[in-house]
Amino acid sequence: MISRFTSLLMHWNRHENTRKMPWKGEKDPYRIWLSEIILQQTRVEQGWEYYERFIRRYPTIADLAQAPEQEVFKLWEGLGYYSRCRNLIHTAGMLMDRFGGRFPRTYEEILSLKGVGTYTAAAIASFAFELPHAVVDGNVIRVLSRISGWEEPVDQPATRRKINELAEKLLDRTHPSAYNQAMMDFGATVCKPQNPLCASCPMQAICEAYRLGKVTRIPLKTVKPAKKSRWFYYCLVSAGGKFLVRERTSRDIWKNLHELFLVESDQALTDTAIRKHPSIRSWLTAEHTVIDEISTLRSQQLTHQHIRGKFIRINVKKSMREVPEGYRWVGRKELKQLAFPKYIISYLEENRYI
Ligand code: ADE
Repeated sequence: MISRFTSLLMHWNRHENTRKMPWKGEKDPYRIWLSEIILQQTRVEQGWEYYERFIRRYPTIADLAQAPEQEVFKLWEGLGYYSRCRNLIHTAGMLMDRFGGRFPRTYEEILSLKGVGTYTAAAIASFAFELPHAVVDGNVIRVLSRISGWEEPVDQPATRRKINELAEKLLDRTHPSAYNQAMMDFGATVCKPQNPLCASCPMQAICEAYRLGKVTRIPLKTVKPAKKSRWFYYCLVSAGGKFLVRERTSRDIWKNLHELFLVESDQALTDTAIRKHPSIRSWLTAEHTVIDEISTLRSQQLTHQHIRGKFIRINVKKSMREVPEGYRWVGRKELKQLAFPKYIISYLEENRYI
């Protein structure tokens, strides 16, 4: 039996949902997978262009699997959360090697792919193959906890189990693809986090949060610990038109992206402290080195970290005998081709290095 919620949602979807997106109605599992990975931590407006670029450059799994890694990272540049891009490359290879270039057709196999969690697996399985799996993400959690009037913190496992069960129960099992897409669109355009459209909402009569006047209080979250602060002072060291860069390889943010010569600090440094900093001084000999400029303070918010710092332009008059461990010199052309985190890209772009 289809619940009242489900029939209202499907009716809304047929008559009132005007949201257009390039992957909507798509049946090719490769394209759906790509769109869902891009959308995992990215807003639709931002992901849209990247999706179209990826599809154009890599129309098939084989095209993506054969692409040079740095080329894929370059195309991903600016989207953030680069583990998604690493998993994309890894999984494309896996799809060729283990599945003969054909996307798997069962929920369990889809879920086994690296970078694919329950949400993404349900999206791919339902959109591509009409398999009856309900998507549950932040949007769905918000819609269902409001409809139910639940005030328990939604980041706790017991609440999540309850929401997952309800999501499966409400799924329109005869139209899983349309239902899931309608749920996402409804959460994004009507039952929004801020300023939800309760006055014109088709669910108004069955919404507990609305009845109790608690729509803006739900969903409730447990208070999160503060973000870690890190201070990144990047030196743009140039010598004869070349720049010092390295690839980040450790288990840390921005793995596989490139960076400039880094001086990390656990606190803010004054410009005087930067000029005297031992890591800069140790390999820059005073007579051959000029600090041209120290930028104003720059920052980037990541999910669990707050990155702040400055960029220091250093001109090395004579080429240094010793290049710091892991670093190498690259010319302008290569500088433009390498993938950098957004924090660095915006500096390089603003100062017309790339
Ligand atoms: N977010 C994740 N997947 C989505 C989709 N298919 N449509 C809209 N938003 C999404």
